[in-house]
Parts: sequence; structure tokens; C-alpha cells
Amino acid sequence: MNEKLNILVIVGTTRNARSGKQISDWYISEAQKTAGDLMDFKVVDLQEWDLPLFNEDTPPMYHQYSELQNKIAGEIDKADGFVFVTGEYNHSIPGSLKNLLDYIGAEWNKKPAAYVGYGATGATRAIEHLIQILSCLGVASMRGHITVNAIWDALDGHGIPKDGYWFGDFENHLQELAWWANALKAARE
Ligand SMILES: Cc1cc2nc3c(=O)[nH]c(=O)nc-3n(C[C@H](O)[C@H](O)[C@H](O)COP(=O)(O)O)c2cc1C
Repeated sequence: MNEKLNILVIVGTTRNARSGKQISDWYISEAQKTAGDLMDFKVVDLQEWDLPLFNEDTPPMYHQYSELQNKIAGEIDKADGFVFVTGEYNHSIPGSLKNLLDYIGAEWNKKPAAYVGYGATGATRAIEHLIQILSCLGVASMRGHITVNAIWDALDGHGIPKDGYWFGDFENHLQELAWWANALKAARE
């Protein structure tokens, strides 16, 4: 039997009052119900990682990594694919997420990513920017996003998006990710 795919769920915002963690907790519980037999979902919480602003001497493409870059690379390298959970800040991704992406290069390459967005209108503009940035890192982007609108009203008392506020099809979203993660894993090997 095939091993389960290792999927990193990256929570891109860091402020204490963020909605990002509630959205990622909900996403992971739905994803486990839908595709827990195919994939293991592990959280990368940028609030916990608490990365300083990127200020390394050498651009990551030269692969002369500092200790911190090696630590980040070690985590990203283990993944077969990614789910980015992003809010929308000024029609783009939060600076904290861009900061992570600038730290390392090769370890993102030839892997797939799926997207979960939340904001006024599902962070769709942020997701489009993120896809553009990740194309520079050689990441293959999935089409079927999960989005949450009107985030200020969307969550119930348990932090779960109410019906009518969230959109997307978990089954298609996860099947697409699993297909690409398996295909690219085989190709990398
Ligand atoms: C600096 C900032 C800029 C924002 N800009 C947008 C925006 O352009 N579009 C949008 O839909 N929501 C915007 N919002 C609202 C966020 O989508 C909403 O606050 C969301 O919960 C942010 O993610 P977080 O709570 O995980 O930090 C902005 C919020 C902040 C803090």
C-alpha cells in the first residue's frame, strides 16, 4: 500500500486577533474527514515560527543557507504538497507569508499547492497573487479553492464558517491535490 502524502497546511497570518487559525483548524478537520486516508495534514503556523524579516546575506537560489534557512528548508523539504491558508491584506497576501516564501528556494520546487482564502470576498485577489509568486518557486497550483466571504460575520461561536459564507468542494479540491502530489512525488523520485 502507498504511504500517505505529507501535506503542510501553512497558516499565513500572525496577529493575535487573526481568523487564520480558526479557518485552518476547520479546514484540517474537514480535510481529514474527506481525505484522511490519503493524506496527513501538518500545520505550519507562522505565528509560532515567529520569523524575523528576511535579511540573509545570500539569495536563496545560491543555496548557501544559514542555520535558520536550513531549519525552514528541512520542514518544507519533507512535504509532498502544500495548502496555503491566506487572508487578504490590501488586495494581496500578508507580508508574513511573503516573508516565509523569500527565505528558501529549491525545497518548494516541483510540488503542488492548493488554496484556502478568507476575507471580504474569499481573498481571491490574494490567492491570485500567491499563485504568481509560487510560480517563481516552481510550485504547481491547483484550481479548486476553498473560500470564506465576509469573514467578520462568517464564523459561528466555535470558529466554524456558517453555511452561505463558505464556498468550494472539498472532495474535488483534495482529489486534485492528491493526484498532483502523487504524480510529482513519483516524478521527483
Ligand atoms: C492590513 C489589512 C488589510 C486588509 N485588506 C483587505 C483587503 O484588501 N481585502 C479584503 O477582503 N480584506 C482585507 N482585510 C480584512 C481581512 O481579510 C480580514 O481581517 C482577515 O481576517 C485577515 O486575516 P487574519 O484575521 O488571519 O489576519 C484587511 C485586513 C488587514 C489587517
